[in-house]
Amino acid sequence: MQVIIKENYEEMSKEAAKIIKDEILHKPNLVLGLATGSTPIGTYKELIRMYEAGEVDFSKVVTFNLDEYVGLPSTHNQSYFYFMQEKLFKGININPENIHVPSGIVKDFNAYCQWYEDEIDKVGGVDVQVLGIGGDGHIGFNEPGTSLVSRTQVVTLTEETIEDNSRFFEKKEDVPRFAITMGVGTIMEAKHCLLVANGEKKADPVSVLIEGPITSQVTASVLQMHPKATVILDEAAASKLNRIDYYKWAYENQPEI
Ligand code: F6R
Repeated sequence: MQVIIKENYEEMSKEAAKIIKDEILHKPNLVLGLATGSTPIGTYKELIRMYEAGEVDFSKVVTFNLDEYVGLPSTHNQSYFYFMQEKLFKGININPENIHVPSGIVKDFNAYCQWYEDEIDKVGGVDVQVLGIGGDGHIGFNEPGTSLVSRTQVVTLTEETIEDNSRFFEKKEDVPRFAITMGVGTIMEAKHCLLVANGEKKADPVSVLIEGPITSQVTASVLQMHPKATVILDEAAASKLNRIDYYKWAYENQPEI
């Protein structure tokens, strides 16, 4: 796992966007897994800037989002589909046919979850998966206790997640109780996992993600088992790590091979 600690949110976002840009330059039809939430907004802003500056072309990029609230149509202003349109897709030249955000309003969720997995397989799997981390250590909406080999499924959100996400809704009661999410096992199949985290509130889950035991109680910790995981943090999110000096040293002294 590579740990990159940046001074602040802006630098963290720039670093994440640069990694994504380099991957697209290397593979123009990159399969890009995307996350919603506050954390990647700066990364998406930087990707839009890069697109406007002619530094990157999204016309062949294929995207798969991690999750969506059950019960919210894509037109709802708190749906993750809507979020992605507003924060990224409308600012870049992505082909709408290449966008995949799980639907929160299907009749047969079991069949739909399998279909979503099959669509990912059809394009050869996710190349780079952008991730945030929840206050309870979740990736996607894989809450504490989720099997570390789980596949795309419908899950019940924890009270902590509902509380955390209520900041986007008028009242707490409006936050959906269920979500459809890629499973931990699905996420682990991405060729490169890129997790971003900022702020003091993330310091505890980040310390388990990087230095704690691998546990389904903090599903992000399974990334310790991923062959290519990059974690980009700001100083606040990194503040509870024991080996900060080494991570900085290793980043500044990378082997030239
Ligand atoms: C969102 C997602 C979640 C968030 C996490 C952090 O698609 O999968 O795991 O990444 O809840 O959310 P923020 O960034 O709002 O703190």
